[in-house]
Amino acid sequence: MFDPMTLLAAPFARGDLPAPGPEAPMAVLRARPPSAPVFAPGDLKCEQGMRPLHDALAQAGFDVTPRLDAPEGAFAAAAVALTRAKAENRANFARAWRMTRPGGAVLAAGAKTDGVESLQKDLRRVIALDGAIPRDHGRVIWARRTADTPPEFDRWIAEAAPAIRVEGRFRTVAGAFSWTEADPGSQLLAQNLPPLSGKVADLGAGWGWLADAALRRGAPEAVDLFEADAAALDCARRNVADPRARFFWADAAGPEIPRGEYDWVISNPPFHEGRAVSIALGHGFLEAAARMLAPGGTFMLVANRSLPYERRLNELFGQVEQLALTPRYKVLSARRPRRRRA
Ligand SMILES: C[S@@+](CC[C@H](N)C(=O)[O-])C[C@H]1O[C@@H](n2cnc3c(N)ncnc32)[C@H](O)[C@@H]1O
Repeated sequence: MFDPMTLLAAPFARGDLPAPGPEAPMAVLRARPPSAPVFAPGDLKCEQGMRPLHDALAQAGFDVTPRLDAPEGAFAAAAVALTRAKAENRANFARAWRMTRPGGAVLAAGAKTDGVESLQKDLRRVIALDGAIPRDHGRVIWARRTADTPPEFDRWIAEAAPAIRVEGRFRTVAGAFSWTEADPGSQLLAQNLPPLSGKVADLGAGWGWLADAALRRGAPEAVDLFEADAAALDCARRNVADPRARFFWADAAGPEIPRGEYDWVISNPPFHEGRAVSIALGHGFLEAAARMLAPGGTFMLVANRSLPYERRLNELFGQVEQLALTPRYKVLSARRPRRRRA
């Protein structure tokens, strides 16, 4: 699997740049657990807002926080592990630049499919790049931080920052799922929700569009939002301003997810890790929903029509129904979770 952290280490291993260490750690935005021991935990100060990756970094001994708000010039070097969100990548490079002191290196590493070439092109219009190493269908690029910050960098930071972008009232942030519009799959699920009551959980709640709709469908006592992406959840806290809503920065597969508690679990499960389709991630959501429901509870989900979820749902639940089908999506309901030993 492509590893941006190994790629980020290449210019240090080759002696092109002075290696980071405990005296002068490098900030890494969107850091991931390295697949080989290319950095020691003391070499890095990591930012990672996705809970499973955050926890894996912490487990490996790295110093990690969901959001690194470092002052100007705080680090001798800073780097970005690219994601597939172009606006987020540009903003993170600009943030890494601001965190680095003049003369220090600012790096970015990613796969071609993460748009590393397009970032390189955008950067060349604004600053001089000092080096690039192509490798593993991707590349690492770097620049030396100058005393001035180009005005484009502040524009890139502003373009990606949390702001009201959807339906004149929802705050979203670059990199969050469907950050420029309410997802059509979630809209279809909302249209098919019956009147809700009791305790509801939205599993993978993003910036809160579906949870907001659920609060207005029937009279739920409580809607709990579980979401792994800290930046999206921060938006949800502002978007779903209802005393019945509670917010949990959580991995759906994590041990902190409550068991046997909910009358309803609603979800638009994720099925991508990076750019790759991951049915296992979607299945993990189905399994979590089955554990979370009270015996008489119901799971309602929307999925891309082609995703083969029915078989696993039938193993996990006593009754599975298709409630809606469109050219792109299906809405499924599943009742009577089968109890299994923990
Ligand atoms: C398809 S989106 C749905 C978002 C939101 N419910 C909506 O309708 O806009 C799936 C969400 O699951 C989140 N997610 C991905 N992996 C997760 C995990 N392991 N645990 C919890 N949430 C996760 C993603 O960050 C994303 O916000």
